[in-house]
Amino acid sequence: MGSVRTAVFPVGGLGTRFLPATKAVPKEMLPVVDKPLIQYAVEEARDAGVEHFVFITASGKSAVEDHFDRNFELETVLAQQGKHDLLRHILMDGMVPGRLAYVRQMDPLGLGHAVWCARHLIGNGPFAVLLADELLRGDRPPLADLIDVHEDIGGNVVSVIEVAAEDTGSYGIVKPGRIDGRRIEVRGLVEKPDPADAPSQYAVVGRYILEPAIMGLLGEGHIGAGGEIQLTDAMARLIGGQPFNAVIHEGSRYDCGSKVGLLEANVALALERDDLVGVESAVRRALGD
Ligand code: G1P
Repeated sequence: MGSVRTAVFPVGGLGTRFLPATKAVPKEMLPVVDKPLIQYAVEEARDAGVEHFVFITASGKSAVEDHFDRNFELETVLAQQGKHDLLRHILMDGMVPGRLAYVRQMDPLGLGHAVWCARHLIGNGPFAVLLADELLRGDRPPLADLIDVHEDIGGNVVSVIEVAAEDTGSYGIVKPGRIDGRRIEVRGLVEKPDPADAPSQYAVVGRYILEPAIMGLLGEGHIGAGGEIQLTDAMARLIGGQPFNAVIHEGSRYDCGSKVGLLEANVALALERDDLVGVESAVRRALGD
């Protein structure tokens, strides 16, 4: 049995960057090729050994719940039509009854508040947090690299990439200590610093292994950057008391919280697909080549 069995997926955000598409459709349900963003994150967690999936939702997000549920009408029609491949695609392995939970965030107070809403569902052990708008890919599920470090050293682990100096204001930024291959000791964390104040260019990209002690800190409700309860601020307060490490993500990464990033992910993942014919020539035509 793996050491990290529960993952939390904050899916309560309004998705204003994608309006009008996200007026009635949750941004986590926007597709990359033919699968909604949230499913990539859930599959990554499942493939890394996670067994319990906790979604922090809000009003207007019921499509997420429906997506991971059975749809007997659709299943019946596909079976009658002999569309067994499609039938396999709509039934996700590992989605066993009782292993999915949905909690309404109720107040839009930030990422830290969203994670705190899962406090009664994470048990006494470490848990993962995955932000679905960060689509990470690698030879193995990127979350598994964090779990490895957690199993070696214990404590909290986040994944990072190096971003351009001018982009630090969009991320949680790590103050690095000792660097050992892909592992970085975390000495501090700052949410969205101006480039002039950033302690490095190592940016947190939406994958976390956290010790449950974070919940007490989040519960204090400190307001941080952007007037929100920030996960980064609570994590910063864990440093020193518990091991805290970052792992440099080595595979590809798509910022699907931005239009260009979502487009890039669609093109890149479509190009990888053997079953899709003509993607490359369609991209060339779009470029006017
Ligand atoms: C959140 C976190 C930030 C992290 C980022 C990754 O910010 O607060 O620390 O670096 O996700 O995408 P958001 O993009 O939700 O503003």
